[in-house]
Amino acid sequence: PADMGDDLERVLLSEEQLGARLDEIAAQIDADYAGRDLLLVGVLKGAVMVMADLSRRLHSSVEMDWMAVSSYGAGTTSSGVVRILKDLDADLTGRDVLIVEDIIDSGLTLSWLLANLRSRGPASVEIATMLRKPEAAKVEVDVRYVGFDIPTDFVVGYGLDYAEKYRNLPFVGTLAPHVYGD
Ligand code: PRP
Ligand code: MN
Ligand code: MG
Repeated sequence: PADMGDDLERVLLSEEQLGARLDEIAAQIDADYAGRDLLLVGVLKGAVMVMADLSRRLHSSVEMDWMAVSSYGAGTTSSGVVRILKDLDADLTGRDVLIVEDIIDSGLTLSWLLANLRSRGPASVEIATMLRKPEAAKVEVDVRYVGFDIPTDFVVGYGLDYAEKYRNLPFVGTLAPHVYGD
């Protein structure tokens, strides 16, 4: 296959920058949840990288569960329609839950997910996201841990896809215009 690097315009956040920020967030989570049993809920598929890298930086043992929801399909803009493709295995009753996401764009996915998980009787539900696009917000979502606020450019890598590709880039970058196909 062709080198993914040929499809990129520029690197927005390097692997080193992402890792350094995750060190800080993991230390905050360790402090905030000291002495409690934490359940990390990763949102497939985009959150796979941040879930793996964040969880490995925590000093206490956590449980991990996964939910698959989709609002984007193959396009580059949010439809606002959220579907559950795979539900959690865990019972959330009385649990301290931390949702782990790659990016908050319009906020529609997470605001829906927050309401859904809060209806299941957890002790607490908070959010950790690697990226957030403040200028793209259609709904405000109260987020406890944010890696980086970024501009509204379409970004890929570190779990984020364009038509299911580029998720395996170890950094976050913007796509070159020729990739959008014209
Ligand atoms: C992307 C991303 C977030 C969501 C953010 O997921 O991973 O989950 O969109 O967008 P929003 O704030 O506008 O709702 P997507 O639906 O593309 O599924 P994926 O994680 O499988 O790529
Ligand atoms: Mn996602
Ligand atoms: Mg996607």
